Amino acid sequence: MWRPPHPDAFLFGRERELRVIKERLDSVSDGGGALLIRGEAGVGKTALLEAAKLRAASRAMTMLVATGVPSETNLPFAGLYELLRAGGAQL
Ligand SMILES: Nc1ncnc2c1ncn2[C@@H]1O[C@H](COP(=O)(O)OP(=O)(O)OP(=O)(O)O)[C@@H](O)[C@H]1O
Ligand SMILES: [Mg+2]
Repeated sequence: MWRPPHPDAFLFGRERELRVIKERLDSVSDGGGALLIRGEAGVGKTALLEAAKLRAASRAMTMLVATGVPSETNLPFAGLYELLRAGGAQL
């Protein structure tokens, strides 16, 4: 039976990053954890984030995501606001 390819099948050359994501998820404790993905524009941050989301979901982990944008650099707590707006209030 045909199955759609796993999204990772389209990620070339990211074995190290995927390993880091796995290790990070492995080491998350009851208190939670954080993962920062940063890089130049278009380098593949969102693709890695999607890979992290898939892995977190398969472990039934709650994952909150905030994306930094240059226009919010001087906005205090912009990242925290985004996390809470994304569902952190239920925590
Ligand atoms: N490792 C990879 N192998 C193949 N394609 C990739 C890889 N990483 C990203 N891509 C593709 O490259 C394009 C840009 O990736 P992505 O959107 O993840 O970059 P980004 O860093 O989030 O960009 P931006 O800075 O604009 O937010 C997308 O079409 C994505 O599917
Ligand atoms: Mg992106």
